[in-house]
Amino acid sequence: MRRPIVAANWKLNGNRSMVSSLVAAVNKHAASAVSADVVICPPFPYLVESRALIDQGNAYLGAQNAAKETNGAYTGEVSAEMLAEIGCRFVIIGHSERRQYYGESDSIVAEKFVRVQEAGLIPIVCVGESLQQREQGKMEQTIISQIQAVIAKAGISNFNNAVVAYEPIWAIGTGETATPDQAQQVHALIRGEVAQQSESIASELRILYGGSVKADNAAELFAQTDIDGGLIGGASLDAAQFNAIVSAAG
Ligand code: 13P
Repeated sequence: MRRPIVAANWKLNGNRSMVSSLVAAVNKHAASAVSADVVICPPFPYLVESRALIDQGNAYLGAQNAAKETNGAYTGEVSAEMLAEIGCRFVIIGHSERRQYYGESDSIVAEKFVRVQEAGLIPIVCVGESLQQREQGKMEQTIISQIQAVIAKAGISNFNNAVVAYEPIWAIGTGETATPDQAQQVHALIRGEVAQQSESIASELRILYGGSVKADNAAELFAQTDIDGGLIGGASLDAAQFNAIVSAAG
């Protein structure tokens, strides 16, 4: 049985007062999520403060990015070791916004995956196709090459300590969610790709769906065979919405 995960990706949002109210409310609710893990990923400056507010067994702290380097002259970067030291457990890597706006290629994402695991943290590696790729019939090819780049660099065995998030770019922040069938199809594709190299790792791999998940569509998405929870953007900024999504997962 794969334990669901619901992760809150705050993106570039929030402030200290939101940390104290939202993290506290999500942490409290996580205690009721008896069969799901809850991951809260605020911006870097709020990680330490958030960590202090997370004390429920089901709730974890996550970061939204990490450097592909470990240390040195890389102004503005934050290493996975630093994130581990302050109590993060998960790190989102390869989000489509990082790929799109900050030039992160498949190979950079693969390097970050390795660094995050070397620091003892769990990568949540994001994959997803654009609308144009989908319309041109290139969805499968896009997803497979994103996954394969990480497998080639990190090795399949390291997927036993990783999470994958499928986020179709056309569904992010648009209000246009993939239908449960559309999402299930891609989740099965991802699991099948991993299964070609290891059936046991594939069967344990948690694959989250992200893209306009809300309290009112979460349950039918999470009911799909290969959907093991969600990576939530906009709706994670509202405690009632996000906690309802957590409840839908377990
Ligand atoms: P929305 O939930 O706002 O569509 O964002 C999804 C996402 O990108 C989470 O990482």
